[in-house]
Amino acid sequence: MDNWQPDSWRSKPILQQPEYEDKAQVAIVEDTLSKYPPLVFAAETRELRRQLGDVSLGKGFLLQGGDCAESFDEFNAPKIRDTFKVILQMAIVLTFAGRCPVTKVARMAGQYAKPRSSNEETINGVTLPSYRGDIINNLEFTAAARRPDPNRLLDAYHRSAATLNLLRAFAQGGLADLHEVNRWNMAFVENNPLKERYQDIARRIQDTLQFMDTIGINATNTPALHETSLFTSHEALLLNYEQALTRVDTLTGKPYDCSAHMVWIGERTRQLDHAHVEFFRGIHNPIGVKVGPGMDEDELIRLTDTLNPENDPGRLTFITRMGAGNLEKNLPRLLRRVKQEGKHVVWSSDPMHGNTIKASNGYKTRNFDAILGEIRQFFAAHAAEGTHAGGIHLEMTGQHVTECTGGAYKISDDDLAQAYKTQCDPRLNADQVLEMAFLVADHLRN
Ligand code: PEP
Ligand code: CO
Repeated sequence: MDNWQPDSWRSKPILQQPEYEDKAQVAIVEDTLSKYPPLVFAAETRELRRQLGDVSLGKGFLLQGGDCAESFDEFNAPKIRDTFKVILQMAIVLTFAGRCPVTKVARMAGQYAKPRSSNEETINGVTLPSYRGDIINNLEFTAAARRPDPNRLLDAYHRSAATLNLLRAFAQGGLADLHEVNRWNMAFVENNPLKERYQDIARRIQDTLQFMDTIGINATNTPALHETSLFTSHEALLLNYEQALTRVDTLTGKPYDCSAHMVWIGERTRQLDHAHVEFFRGIHNPIGVKVGPGMDEDELIRLTDTLNPENDPGRLTFITRMGAGNLEKNLPRLLRRVKQEGKHVVWSSDPMHGNTIKASNGYKTRNFDAILGEIRQFFAAHAAEGTHAGGIHLEMTGQHVTECTGGAYKISDDDLAQAYKTQCDPRLNADQVLEMAFLVADHLRN
């Protein structure tokens, strides 16, 4: 990798970074973080890259999801558990009803930094710096809360470590045992209109487990029945944080960003000659790049050549976020070009960020049908171009929030105030995610 260093991004233009007043404290925090233990192990990251390689070749599906922004205030076990459950439940529907192996990647344990469309926010004539995620400042609308505080980088590290610890315990300590998942899922869907359909899957899984048990395949001799793997991811926006957690793997001698298994570059910071692309080209993690409707074919190929010069399947995921009205016009030309050039990428659909609207009462929301519409168009475009619709990327939570309208419960603009809790963008709630899972599974099977 010519001229790459963990800090070579520092000589490039960079967008969406906080302006700290106390620069000396930033340097102290960076130094502290660089001596802390890594959050993930490079070999786990390589395993994710291997699985994504399969996905890019059409042999699997990527499910990525979680909060738009994790919150320091809502940092607790029930919150982590419920999001873990909703990811697992969706994965089971996709695996069973969609008949496709699913790689699960959480937007958790580090999803704390947010790019914003405006540097400032004005309420009732008062203008303050925008909220940029809990790793930078606080959502509360006061001058003190909105001041970027470098010590929050350390808080974010510790919270990420504790979240990851609990996720690992859930994944390997028995909560994800298929028998168990089947049991808790029943209670989870108690009032859901799709309860019958879900229970049918649950019964079929139970029959299968019983049959396997009869012939001697059980959790004791087959660990896959007892545990699962869940990888972590976030938008690597704050490059000083990411650099401080970048370590050379002792097994391969290569640098990995050990803040998460997968990291992605947002739509606003993916300029070819800027700092984010520079940092990402040198780390060996599987990486994502958000792709909006304005992406040009040549630019996409240049990004591919810069970020994945060896054309390694699994290295690069393009997360398209076009909007239901824009996808048909803009995705096919990109799919065609990437296929023509023989590039291996995972194509994943983020149906959330191109479909954000302001409700009549001022709430930022997204409509279930628009989200589903983008997913449908995504599958249709891939079918038409002969490429693999490789995954979905959702903003979702296991909690019963009212942030996105529509779905089987027909949440209306007037319902949004009931439980609108997001720190940033509106998320699908547990019921909407289950409904989405069945609809995506139908597409997958076809
Ligand atoms: C996000 O994923 O929360 C986000 C900011 O997305 P995008 O970069 O696609 O706008
Ligand atoms: Co978001």
